[in-house]
Amino acid sequence: MEADIQQIVEEARAAIGQADERSLMTVAAGFIGRKAKLTEILKSLGGLPIEERKHIGELANQAKLAIEEMVREREGALGMQQQRQLMQRDTTLPGIAPVVGHLSPVTLITRELTGALTELGFAVAEGPEVELEAYNFDLLNIPADHPARDQWDTFWVRKGKDSKTSTLLRTHTSPVQIRYMLEHKPPIRIISPGRTFRYEAEDAKHSSVFSQIEGLMVDKGISVAHMKAVINHFVKKVLGPEVKARFRPSFFPFTEPSFEVDVWFGDKWLELMGCGMVHPQVLRNVDIDPEQYSGFAFGAGIERLAMLKYDIDDIRLFLSGDPRFVEQF
Ligand code: PHE
Repeated sequence: MEADIQQIVEEARAAIGQADERSLMTVAAGFIGRKAKLTEILKSLGGLPIEERKHIGELANQAKLAIEEMVREREGALGMQQQRQLMQRDTTLPGIAPVVGHLSPVTLITRELTGALTELGFAVAEGPEVELEAYNFDLLNIPADHPARDQWDTFWVRKGKDSKTSTLLRTHTSPVQIRYMLEHKPPIRIISPGRTFRYEAEDAKHSSVFSQIEGLMVDKGISVAHMKAVINHFVKKVLGPEVKARFRPSFFPFTEPSFEVDVWFGDKWLELMGCGMVHPQVLRNVDIDPEQYSGFAFGAGIERLAMLKYDIDDIRLFLSGDPRFVEQF
């Protein structure tokens, strides 16, 4: 039995010395596991005479401890090897590129539109998202009892004592027209991109938070012809030179006459934006003499344009924050 134990230790030394990370535990179990020979010997001790039992028992236990130690050493050696392999890595190889974000299609379209209009001499003007009721409605010729206010169902921020103190989330970018004209006199050529808010039941076509781009040009002798030229220019620039636009009579309280612009897309006309000649009352509201000056304004929904351009079928995707969505553009 002594010789058996001796042999087991030798075999274990050889086998463990060659084991790799994956085989080490199985190899070890072959020598000191529940079914291993050494374990059998330990289990059979009970049948031996007392003296021999002591002697063999001690040897077998020592052998077990020795094999356990071999396993630990081998583990250590293998770990070092791994460490060495790590250290041998070529640190001059290019690294793993960090994940970077991607511009939203709303930003992309806004930039394209801004580019198409600034090249015509339009400047970019911005206004606040929390707007005075007076700028969002009253000065745009939409008085409190005007039925058109229904179209702009509103998120109120603070109800003040009148429209000059009440605030709301702007329902369109048109109040920027007012802000700009209160501060600047013609000639005026601005565009104003930004977020707008309407209290809406959301579905694939409606979102409470969306973006618009407003355009305003006021000078002596500005006519519908100028408006059509500017709108045609940027429609073609953004949607493609082959895209046709048509102007259809419409109504907005702050423009007269008013139009809806449709574009021929694939096989049908799609409504794109509203526009018209700035209403004389709006000019008077900001102290510009409508006898001397005239102008046009337009307002386009950016998401709608993006949906046409990129064939997106659900407006809610824009606010989803899902990188799998934005990365497609
Ligand atoms: N403000 C209008 C809207 O949100 C669009 C518009 C802007 C129409 C400028 C005419 C002139 O629907």
